[in-house]
Amino acid sequence: MIFSTLIISKSEPIYIQIERHILTGIKSGELKKDSKLPSTREVSKILNISRNSVISAYEKLESMGIIITKKGIGTFISIEGENESYEYNVDFLKRVNCYGNILNELDIVKKELPYKKGMISFKSISPESHLFNLDDFKRSLLDAWTFEEANLLNYGYAKGYKPLIDYFFDYMKEKRVVTTNKDILITNGFTEAFDIIISSLTNKNDVILCEEPTHNTALKIMKAYGLKVVQVKLDKEGLDLDSLEKALSKYNPKFGYLIPSYNNPTGIVTKTERRKEIYKLFRKYFVPIIEDGFNEELLYSSSPIDPIASLCGNGNGVIYIGSLSKILFPGLRIGWILGDTKLIDILESVKRGRNIHSSFLDQSTFYYYLKSGAFSRYVKNVRKYYRDKYNLVMDMIKKYIPYECITGEGGLHIFIKLKNNINTRELLELCYKNNVLFMPGDIFYENTSNLNIETINSKENLVSCCDDEIINIPEFAQYNKNSLKGKNTFRIGFGRVSDEDIKKGIKIIGDNIKYLSDQ
Ligand SMILES: Cc1ncc(COP(=O)(O)O)c(C=O)c1O
Repeated sequence: MIFSTLIISKSEPIYIQIERHILTGIKSGELKKDSKLPSTREVSKILNISRNSVISAYEKLESMGIIITKKGIGTFISIEGENESYEYNVDFLKRVNCYGNILNELDIVKKELPYKKGMISFKSISPESHLFNLDDFKRSLLDAWTFEEANLLNYGYAKGYKPLIDYFFDYMKEKRVVTTNKDILITNGFTEAFDIIISSLTNKNDVILCEEPTHNTALKIMKAYGLKVVQVKLDKEGLDLDSLEKALSKYNPKFGYLIPSYNNPTGIVTKTERRKEIYKLFRKYFVPIIEDGFNEELLYSSSPIDPIASLCGNGNGVIYIGSLSKILFPGLRIGWILGDTKLIDILESVKRGRNIHSSFLDQSTFYYYLKSGAFSRYVKNVRKYYRDKYNLVMDMIKKYIPYECITGEGGLHIFIKLKNNINTRELLELCYKNNVLFMPGDIFYENTSNLNIETINSKENLVSCCDDEIINIPEFAQYNKNSLKGKNTFRIGFGRVSDEDIKKGIKIIGDNIKYLSDQ
């Protein structure tokens, strides 16, 4: 209460003391604009003074426009007080640690040429949202509410929504994965699943073997944790077995990270026989596999191939990460890890420590959607839609693009290696001027080993890093276009591009390749 701190002195007229007290209250921010003052009667009672003194103070303040009396309502402050603040600045950029700097530096959303309205963009490999069967989804949301009621809005379990976990168990069994002694953790998509595994099971400088090229987000996460990434080349059947064996024996890797179905970016599906050979080699060298099972449903031309995890039987050497993000509702951010029971028990605690659990409302809605059979209907539909687009893209590429090699047999993207060593970063710059965007291939290769933190001489632009190491971020940011691995490759994502734009866009890319070749 504003007047409880006013001690009336006898040496000065009372109305002046009241006036000053209100002005001080406004200045300090204690009395905010539009806040109500006690009535003159109340003030006189509290301070045990004559009401006339209070009336005089209020009248004076009102004549100055500082307060206003509204008949029958009360007296209010009518001006803003000064906002007292004490400026305090910190140079946060100097305080960002290694982890933050690397993720910032490798953030392709910030660093690559941005999409602008009206452009033809082959950059994304997201599904087309207008294909989502919204009515089925709305029904699932209602089902979730009906069955779970307000529980959905309370805390749930770190491991995930039990019916969804059970659903994914059955789903994995259909893929002939033995689930005995295994458990499932629900995560925010593949990305969190991979991050949880990597952050819990690796130490800085550990080596991870993966395909060359591989998923850019996975590369980024591994680099952020200071891991050494060794890439093994792919042929059209999958990982090259000789190179794989050499790498396994030479580097003593902590894990292999593999995308056997529709490797991103190449779209290569590792064939059944090759999967067996790869699995046997990892087993021979006692190296566990993290299998990224994304996109498995989108094979157009043959039935899905069983995941590598299905070769493991009762063993626990493969940790499988599932995500339907590239087919269905990536915005829901739902994925899962299937792995050894004791391992999942640890990862559950990691998940709880990070974000308690993934949204129960989303998990439950997703569960009722999957259970209703809507998913199977949807997949049939979209397969045809994407297959037609894929065929159109292939026709256009064959017509306009002089490629050395083209891969991708399903999914939402294909990968092209150009003839004549055309640099796709130069190509992208030209295409960008014609409003066409694609993903340059170098981002899927380990081109960042200099990010593995070298001490450099210049003290300028240094960002201090973990331990005694130092990283020169601005220097790294300047790509040396000619020494990049994958510099003559690029990825075309076509799921969200109209047929008309596919025709127009690929012709523009072809015209620019011609221009570069003629130079
Ligand atoms: C190889 C690979 N795995 C998984 C995913 C899905 O990631 P998330 O589930 O985090 O959206 C993607 C998405 O681009 C991918 O390219």
